[in-house]
Amino acid sequence: MNLKDKVVVITGAGSGIGAATAQLFGEHKATVVVADINISNATKVAERILKYGGIATAIKTDVSKFQEVEALISATVTKYNRLDVIVNNAGIGGKHHLKTAEHTHEDWHNVIAVNQTGVFYCMQVALKQMTKQGFGNIVNVASLAGLKASGNNLSYSASKFAVVGMTKSAALEYGRNNIRINAVCPGYTKSSLLDQFLNVRADMDDLLVKMIPMHRFGEAKEIAEGICYLASDNSKFMTGQTLTLDGGISL
Ligand SMILES: NC(=O)c1ccc[n+]([C@@H]2O[C@H](COP(=O)([O-])OP(=O)(O)OC[C@H]3O[C@@H](n4cnc5c(N)ncnc54)[C@H](O)[C@@H]3O)[C@@H](O)[C@H]2O)c1
Repeated sequence: MNLKDKVVVITGAGSGIGAATAQLFGEHKATVVVADINISNATKVAERILKYGGIATAIKTDVSKFQEVEALISATVTKYNRLDVIVNNAGIGGKHHLKTAEHTHEDWHNVIAVNQTGVFYCMQVALKQMTKQGFGNIVNVASLAGLKASGNNLSYSASKFAVVGMTKSAALEYGRNNIRINAVCPGYTKSSLLDQFLNVRADMDDLLVKMIPMHRFGEAKEIAEGICYLASDNSKFMTGQTLTLDGGISL
């Protein structure tokens, strides 16, 4: 997999899947822009990459704010002259796990703003740049929850189905512009987001692991491997697709 010298922006790269993805791109000698709302975590990730001789910059970005997304892409292009890849990974879960009739409007608006509108803003600004330069690659981080029903999680489910839909629809539009757009759909993967979910019930950990055919949670690095594959020329005839990495739970 050759990712050397690719200019890659990763949102939500301060922890979990995004941090593992930034690290893996760094190991492949890509130039990594580590974007996160949490600048202190993003800086730590960028410093780790710099420490082993990679190239990385941390930029504070809230993907739910259009002007911050514009500033992120503009700073990247000013510094590195182009944008080869954007990984739209930033995402949050709802705070309350309630059925649809009780689903809080607060959770609805927060989750949709980051997971859905944030991906739209990032795709929109990245696509303007990628169309101008004549090439590009977008990898969206959706979820198993974007492919299958999930209970007590309506805003998250809606946002992730939307990410899959946006991936397919935009891929249809931009194939002729030499821009590929795909998504990964992770199953339960170790991260702070999964920890929040496991805290909902004391026996949640055991319950979930039993449901996964491979009898374990995914590692963030295992999702990062799928993202890097989609970002590389190894997948160069693939667009508008979802790559499911879930230990078999969708079966
Ligand atoms: N962990 C899982 O089991 C799992 C499963 C399926 C999909 N996902 C998806 O993977 C992605 C990464 O999640 P994770 O599990 O690594 O969680 P995580 O909480 O470890 O990481 C999410 C990162 O996004 C950042 N972030 C949150 N809001 C932001 C905003 N408005 N702008 C910019 N950055 C913001 C956070 O600061 C954090 O660094 C999310 O889109 C999530 O929905 C995770």
